[in-house]
Amino acid sequence: MTENGHDPVRVSLGERSYDIHVGARLLEQAGALLSPALHRSRIVVVTDENVADAQLDRLAAGLARSDIEFREVVLPAGETTKSFAQLERLVSDLIDLGVERSDVIVAFGGGVVGDLVGFAAAVVRRGCRYAQIPTTLLSQVDSSVGGKTAINVAQGKNLVGAFHQPTIVIADITALETLSPRQLRAGYAEVVKYGAIADAAFFAWLENNGAALLGGDEALRRIAVKRSCEAKAAIVAADERESGERALLNLGHTFGHALEAIYGYSDALLHGEAVAIGMTLAFEYSARQGLGPPGAGKRLADHLRAAGLPADLDDLPADGDFNEDRIIEHMMQDKKVESGALTLILAEDIGAARIVKDVPVDQVRVFLKEKIAARRR
Ligand code: GLY
Repeated sequence: MTENGHDPVRVSLGERSYDIHVGARLLEQAGALLSPALHRSRIVVVTDENVADAQLDRLAAGLARSDIEFREVVLPAGETTKSFAQLERLVSDLIDLGVERSDVIVAFGGGVVGDLVGFAAAVVRRGCRYAQIPTTLLSQVDSSVGGKTAINVAQGKNLVGAFHQPTIVIADITALETLSPRQLRAGYAEVVKYGAIADAAFFAWLENNGAALLGGDEALRRIAVKRSCEAKAAIVAADERESGERALLNLGHTFGHALEAIYGYSDALLHGEAVAIGMTLAFEYSARQGLGPPGAGKRLADHLRAAGLPADLDDLPADGDFNEDRIIEHMMQDKKVESGALTLILAEDIGAARIVKDVPVDQVRVFLKEKIAARRR
């Protein structure tokens, strides 16, 4: 239990098991939380320019309290940092800084930093340990947990990477205070995702508490992050390498990644915003196939919109140049494509998502064509 009395969430993976600590002001306790994992009181902290400015002093104080020395590597902020060029630079810096295999490299930032550092840790000296200290809502509830690490390549997002589990995750709710409201809302889409996949009661709780949570209520934020991490930990423990049910966590992502690609992975459409639209499309397509009631997609869209998120193609920025063929082309890059066929996460209802293989591409194309035509009217 941490100083402020929170039990960690356990990700049970045999000898690769680890704890996720969720709570307020945990950066100030980071040294005490990390110490049991360290072979020596020396670590490298990798972060980006924005997090370094906003939060590094807090982490430094937390490490100093436990007499842990650290060196920092500060990367440029933004999605383009998840590149071969930055991986090469980071790996070289880590080796120059004398990182040994038994050391713990700290990924301190959002999903970009976590994914890049996790991948670097997977390959430096054929595998070092690393800690995730996520500072965005999106990384606290999703990308820091479960060991997916990656960089982007010209053909698409996250196409080069490795499964490499962290040694510990420290999610400090207080770090969310410096996040922009738009980034916070984008992360909230991934929180809603857990309710939409398998937890109707959590979805209803979010309908009642989402506004206060987004408005800054620390206790509600802690509950939502912890519950999201519990849901993810259970799925990862059951299916670490996504041979089955872990694919549920991709609800909204096949449509969403295609939209992100069309907008050039730019700030015009953030990942969480694309996932929000993608989830609604998945629910709508499910209803169209007779899988679930149409009301479920409307309820999801209503909640996403109430949270200030986009929820349909109508809500996309006006300058997007796309048609159904371009969306399908990007959807076919999805890692769940098997023998040229689409696998989608569809839904029977809120809290009742399921994995559907061999989805006919032409049916999805017609669905998108109709949606795009309706958008232009
Ligand atoms: N973000 C989806 C997963 O970790 O499987």
